[in-house]
Amino acid sequence: MHEKIIILDFGSQYTQLIARRVRELNIYCEIHPWNKCPELNENTKGVILSGSPFSVRDAASPKPDLTKIKGKLPLLGVCFGAQFLASNFGGEVLPSTIREYGRANLSFVDQENILTKGMSEGSQVWMSHGDTIKNVPAGYKVIASTKDVEFAGFEVENEQTFGIQFHPEVYHSTEGTILLKNFLVNVCGCAQDWTPDSFVEETVARLQEQIGDDSVILGLSGGVDSSVAAVLLHKAIGKNLHCIFVDNGLLRKNEFVSVLESYKGMGLNVKGVDASSKFYAELKGLTDPEAKRKAIGKVFIDVFDEESKLVKDAKWLGQGTIYPDVIESVSSSGGPSATIKSHHNVGGLPDYMKLKVIEPLRLLFKDEVRRIGRSMNIDENILGRHPFPGPGLGIRILGDITPEKVAILQDVDHIFISSLKEDGLYDDVWQAGAIFLPIQSVGVMGDERTYENAVALRAVSSTDGMTADWCHLPYEFLAKVSNRIINQVKGINRVTYDISSKPPATIEWE
Ligand code: XMP
Repeated sequence: MHEKIIILDFGSQYTQLIARRVRELNIYCEIHPWNKCPELNENTKGVILSGSPFSVRDAASPKPDLTKIKGKLPLLGVCFGAQFLASNFGGEVLPSTIREYGRANLSFVDQENILTKGMSEGSQVWMSHGDTIKNVPAGYKVIASTKDVEFAGFEVENEQTFGIQFHPEVYHSTEGTILLKNFLVNVCGCAQDWTPDSFVEETVARLQEQIGDDSVILGLSGGVDSSVAAVLLHKAIGKNLHCIFVDNGLLRKNEFVSVLESYKGMGLNVKGVDASSKFYAELKGLTDPEAKRKAIGKVFIDVFDEESKLVKDAKWLGQGTIYPDVIESVSSSGGPSATIKSHHNVGGLPDYMKLKVIEPLRLLFKDEVRRIGRSMNIDENILGRHPFPGPGLGIRILGDITPEKVAILQDVDHIFISSLKEDGLYDDVWQAGAIFLPIQSVGVMGDERTYENAVALRAVSSTDGMTADWCHLPYEFLAKVSNRIINQVKGINRVTYDISSKPPATIEWE
């Protein structure tokens, strides 16, 4: 097992950001709810207590049991974590009388202290709390202050325990990484050897041990996660990995053939199954978005089930699940813990399939999946792909789905996406696509009046799809794409651009 840092989560919006910063320093860490601290062993190099929407003064606020941690392992409390370390051990935390939100500057920083060494006087830090530490317990020494906050940082003497009331993980704390690195490397003694290559090596060895000579089946989607999961499994078990790539008739133009080709080029044992007609038959006449999603999910499971029965000795199902899908979140409303449900994915597999699930990426954030993919030389075309929903164009055709509408939308989408690539805009956009609208409108082409379909173009910027803003694409670019679509795609005489943000809109229209 790799050495690791445990982050105990008290529900702060920044907890995942702490984890990402730790991992950017090539140090492995895990997030756990504050009341479910895992077994600590010789691999646990230190613990970080996150911030929280709670105040330590609330009767209902989290009260972690730190007996096995404080004074025994390196410990860093951030914001709420620091205030808990003060209030619970004889200090005093009160509501702040001044605003302690946003930027502040350190008026004092202990240059000799192992945690703050290398940070400069005047260093900008990011504060976000309604309480402040008024008094620290005996044996606590101040190591950083701002004009208004005396105990911005403290050390507990004769222990490797520290607290900071600012957030080193956010970008606005300009020297936050220095502090985190000091804690992780100089206090905890982490080796910074959790690299993409070491991850691949350790994961491959673990998968080999776990799977042995069994066979694994895995559904490929053409997206980043399933592709990277497949390549890792392939490295581990070679021909015993059986990949299935289903054409649901709702993919992008030429995608089935081109993605299948690139998978074969990567040496994967992949079977392409053209099941479009089954999907179209099940979708016939359906207009309700949820009914369409369910129909697509059902046929997918049927096809996948049928195909997996053809694989002898298949005992495992490989999945591209990633870390944000599995982190157990702490409810900020004070209720019991809830597991984050990622997005509305195309159903799970039914129990009767009796396959054990294997998820080689379940510990990684999305950008880490890409880095691992790069270290295994996976094609940039796959790694840099925009996300694409499981039900594909099925949720971008409003109303009923017909093969003719799919063909029209594929052409429109192809023009939009290839123009983004041509103009060097593709990588600036998080996700883009076209929507077939259920309306027709009047137009003129040559001397003739037309009464044809309208499409909408959507391009958004986002980090995780949970919130998104519409992309301010250049007018000249939009004009060019609109002309191309109307001139080249028969059946379309009107193009609109979606300028809604999420929330309150969503990225997809259905
Ligand atoms: P929304 O429309 O909810 O989309 O803002 C957020 C992200 O999720 C994708 N999405 C889906 N992905 N199955 C999927 O696998 C679905 O049913 C589904 N619906 C939305 C969407 O493309 C965007 O990236």
